[in-house]
Order: sequence, then C-alpha cells, then structure tokens
Amino acid sequence: MILKRIFPAAPCQWFVSLLALSLFAGTTHAQTARTYSISALDISQVEQGWGEPQANKSVEGHTLSIGGQAFTNGLGTHAASEFILDVGGRAASFSAVVGVDDEVGKQGSVVFKVLGDTNQVLWESKELHGGDVPQAVSVSLAGVKQLTLLVDGGDNIDSDHADWAEAQLVMTRGRPSVFSALKEEAIILTPKPSPKPRINSAKVFGVRPGAPFLFTIAATGDRPMTFTAKGLPKGLKLDKKTGHITGTLKKPGNYTVTLRARNKLGTAEREFKIICGAQIGLVPALGWNSWNCFASAVTAEKVKSAAAAMVSSGLINHGWTYINVDDFWEVHRDSKDPTLQGPQRDADGRIIPNPRFPDMKGLTDYIHARGLKTGLYSSPGPWTCGGCVASWQHEELDAQSYGQWGFDYLKYDWCSYGQIDRGDTLPGLQKPYRVMRAALDKVNRDILFSFCQYGMGNVWEWGAEIGGNSWRTTGDINDSWSSMAGIGFRQNGHEKYAGPGHFNDPDMLVVGKVGWGPSLHPTRLTPNEQYTHISLWCLLASPLLIGCDMTQMDDFTLSLLTNDEVLEVNQDPLGRQAARVAQNGQLEVWAKDMEDGSKAVGLFNRGYSETSVTANWSDLGLAGKQKVRDLWRQKDLGEFTGSFAVSVPRHGVVLIRVWPAK
Ligand code: GAL
Repeated sequence: MILKRIFPAAPCQWFVSLLALSLFAGTTHAQTARTYSISALDISQVEQGWGEPQANKSVEGHTLSIGGQAFTNGLGTHAASEFILDVGGRAASFSAVVGVDDEVGKQGSVVFKVLGDTNQVLWESKELHGGDVPQAVSVSLAGVKQLTLLVDGGDNIDSDHADWAEAQLVMTRGRPSVFSALKEEAIILTPKPSPKPRINSAKVFGVRPGAPFLFTIAATGDRPMTFTAKGLPKGLKLDKKTGHITGTLKKPGNYTVTLRARNKLGTAEREFKIICGAQIGLVPALGWNSWNCFASAVTAEKVKSAAAAMVSSGLINHGWTYINVDDFWEVHRDSKDPTLQGPQRDADGRIIPNPRFPDMKGLTDYIHARGLKTGLYSSPGPWTCGGCVASWQHEELDAQSYGQWGFDYLKYDWCSYGQIDRGDTLPGLQKPYRVMRAALDKVNRDILFSFCQYGMGNVWEWGAEIGGNSWRTTGDINDSWSSMAGIGFRQNGHEKYAGPGHFNDPDMLVVGKVGWGPSLHPTRLTPNEQYTHISLWCLLASPLLIGCDMTQMDDFTLSLLTNDEVLEVNQDPLGRQAARVAQNGQLEVWAKDMEDGSKAVGLFNRGYSETSVTANWSDLGLAGKQKVRDLWRQKDLGEFTGSFAVSVPRHGVVLIRVWPAK
C-alpha cells in the first residue's frame, strides 16, 4: 500500500451540520453524525484531466451551475476525475447533485460514479451533457471503507466540466480523510543493453517509388560497429559506419534484406523487409514532438538540441526517429513577442516561418545528417490552435514548402477550421484532410500524415480511407493519472481500425520533464503510472512521440524509452492494436497479437492498492501450457497452464509475452 491519509483540519473549520442519529438499533448510546462538505476536504488530491479542482466553483472558477440552476457549495472538476476518500466504515451516506457545468453551453459528456470498496459501483449517473438538468445522487455507505468519486468523460473530446454540487458525506463517527499517492521509488526494470550488437530497428519499412529513402539501422552494443546489408536493392546505399541507408527506389516491389551489425564482441543479424509501393508508415512512428515540453516556447535551436539529444542519449539506437516541430514555428496573428512577428506569406503566397526558424532547410539537413527524420505542424483553418498562420486556401503551396524544406511528417490540427465548417457532417469533417492528402500526394517526399481533430465523427472509422497514417482519437493528454489512464483505457474497440500504415493515436507521451511552455516540471505520473503509460501505448500500437525535454532525461525516463522488448510490442510488423480481453473492476487484461504467433499481454491494476491480476488463457484464446516472459525485466518467468497470476502495484502493470510451450 503506497497511500497516505491526509486528515482534515478541526471540524469546526468546516461546513459542518450536526444531527443526532442513533445508528445501532438496540444500543443506548446516541451517536452524533456530522455532515462534511466534500469541497472542504483537501481537494488538491483530486486527480483530473484538465485544470485544477475548485471548491465551490466550477473548474473555470465560475459559480457552480447545472441546467440553469446555481449552487453555492460543491466541487468543480474536469473528467477524467478521481477523488479517493477514506471513510473507514464510519460513513452513513453520500449525496450530491451532479452535472456538466453551464459554462460549456451544450458541450461536454460525462458519467459520474460513486465507488465503494474494491471499486464496486454504488451509483452511476446516465451520460450527462451541457444543459442537462442536474441528477441527484444519494447512496448509503454502511460498511464502506474507501469511497471513490469518479467522473469519466463520455466521448473524452473536451468541455467535460463536471460539478459535484452540494456534495456531502454524513459520518457517523470520526472524520473522512483523503488518500494521496505517496512518492514511489522509481525502480528501473529495463536491463542495461548488452555490449554485444543487437539490431533494434523496425523489421519492415514502406517507401514510395521515387521518394528519397532514409532508414537508420538502429543497434545497441559497443562502438565502433560496422553495418552491412545483404540483398539491398539497386538505388540504395548503406553507410557502413553509421548504418544510414539512403537513395531512391524507382520501381514498386518487395525486397528482403539481411542486416548485420558487427563489433569486436560479435555480430547481430535481422531480416528487414522493404516494401516499395503506395503505403508508408507501416509501423507506428517513434519520435519526439515539441508540444508537451516547449509548446509556444519552441525554437529551431531547441529542436536541434532535441535531435542531438536523441543521438547522444542513445535513443536513436532503439529505433527512435522523428523530431517533430509542433505549433509556433509560424508567424503569430497578433503576438507582442517580436520572435513571433513578421511577414506571414511572400508575394506568391508561400508561408514564411517566424524569426525563430530562420533556415528550415538548414534545420532538416541538420536532423537528416544524424539519420533522423523531422516533422511539422499546421491546421486546415486560417489559424493554428495557438493563433499562428495556418494552411486555409494555401494547402498546395504549404505542402510544397514542407517537401522543399525536407519534412517527413505533418500533424494537421483542426483548430480554427471550425470557422469554415461546423464539423457536424461527415463530409465536412473529412474535407480538409482530403484536400491536404491530395496536396501531399503531389510532393515527391514521403510525408507521414497525422490527423489531429480529437476523435470527432469517430475518425478511427474513416481515417485510413482518407489517407491518414494516424489520427488522434482524443483531446489533449496531460501528465495526470486521470488524463493518461482515462485516455489509454478508453481505446478499447478502436483496435479493428488499426493496421500497417494507419494507426490510432491516443496522443503524445507524458514521461520525463514536461511543461507546455518555458518552465518544465517532472511528470506528475508516479513511476508505476509511467510503466502503465508506456506499456499501454505500446500495446495500442500508437505512434510514440516523446513529450519531454530530451536534453534533461534522467536514467529512469531513459529506461522507460529504451526497453527493446517493450518497444518491439509497439513496432511489431503485424500492426495489430491490443484489445481488452478481461476486466474485473479496476483490474484489466489487454492483449495484442504479434507476428510470430505470440501474444503481448498487459495485466493492469487501475486500483489504489497492490492486487493480484490474472490472465486466463481462455480469455486470450489459448489452451495448454504457455511460456511467459516479463518484458520490462526481460526475464522468462516459466511455463504456466490455464492462467498466469501476478501481483500488480497500484496504477501499475506487468507486461508479458506468451508463446506456446514447446
Ligand atoms: C492542440 C493539439 C495539441 C497541440 C496544440 C498546438 O489542438 O491537440 O497536440 O498541437 O493544439 O496549438
């Protein structure tokens, strides 16, 4: 158990009303029950997906208001939200009036839940939206020790401003206390890479005929190292010292190449398939993006430092490739900051970067010279989400610029396109992505196309058809358990839409130092939550875009990003996405089919205390004896018949791979 209790201040400081209550029939002692307002507890311990928890106000600081009804008392939060209270079996009841705060108009969709011990659902609201009348809840808590107030986002897009108005707890004895996570020790599970060579890059690579080819053979092991590639098709050449393969392939076709990496301790070999055709991005992209650390403070110098750090930290040797610039490389519409000012486009309509990015071609050359690739960001609307110049009515010219500058990835973010189309029809939602797809198709460069529109119109159902290599399925992630877990565990059901060249994207990683601006802080996820984050995103075959400042990674963060057996789950050539195969309250088992016939399986504990989690072979479609390997520890655990059970820490995971035993 890694929780500590936080006791409230003396009850006299509280919103307390006294009522005499005889609890135990037959006893002669009258008990004094007290009513505690939830908003007077230590609400700083509320986990939530956006903003800060507010006492007696909405999450944006307004008077609490649901369906036109105002409330003076209550908790204003934002889904996904979790507040865990220790009531020690001494509570009589909980009551509140819940709903989406009127500050979001008709938007938002949330479900409120009251959970008891072992996360038994004591009460659940219907899905509530902005403007709905408030729903009243009143639950008996007889015998309940731990009470959890949860708010789940319905569609998890945005505006999930959730109010627990007039929320109060009647205690028969004692006071309620609040659970908060104690600092967990950051235990590194990933073994140090062997000094012998090991090839870690993707086993398959898609390229279009005629497009510039760049692939780096990623390998760990002592340097110097020499690379060879047997069967490399005509048009490609390998730099034996760096492992960079460059050139162009003229004709479509499939090629099987044997890659070798040799150092003084030995030789590693891996079969590598090059598929020259229409499809690129055959496995999820591995890289970095500037948003979750620098946001509007990004500069070309910071981007170069990120590229240099991807090499010097050794991340490149584990297959990490993309260095992506998010918003704020463009000129801002009205910023007072001179580094964001300047001409927006030239006389021909070509976009001009802001003064922080004086030499785009120089920047991409710098990145490519290191064997890495690079990405850029825009919006189909007139302005990006941050208020910078975007691509509306300049799509072809912009795509040409990206190609000429040498970019390999485009994140295309809906943002102000809402001014052009309300986004309430499928053709309307698809149009801007079709337009940019057509523009990118005219560019002689392989540019991965990443849709960002937060999941509107069930984008997973049509993202591949419109030519997306990935599509965001959610609103923005942040470094809280409720945000990360809320998004990650909600991906179930999307698995049927993922495959080689087209993946669901539950947003970027929030491990390491993040901050969305000039000042950074260590992720607020506990170490076990970080293991859950990376394991789940690997199982989900999500693009993995590191969101931290890579020049400031500690050993723990690096260990999370350099476990080759874990990354192999993400990079498996079959391109399958995991699905939930079993759920028991807060315990979940997710499984993903791997190309070699094995299964990658995550045993997750979303609860607040360490618990045993079981993966039943029947839930995985398996029978008989199976060999089990712990992927984080890179250790065989033995052979198991029927099931595998393991103790999993609070908010943690055990990630295994399962093969039939010989
Ligand atoms: C958001 C997007 C973020 C980031 C930001 C830039 O809409 O979801 O990932 O790109 O815009 O302004």
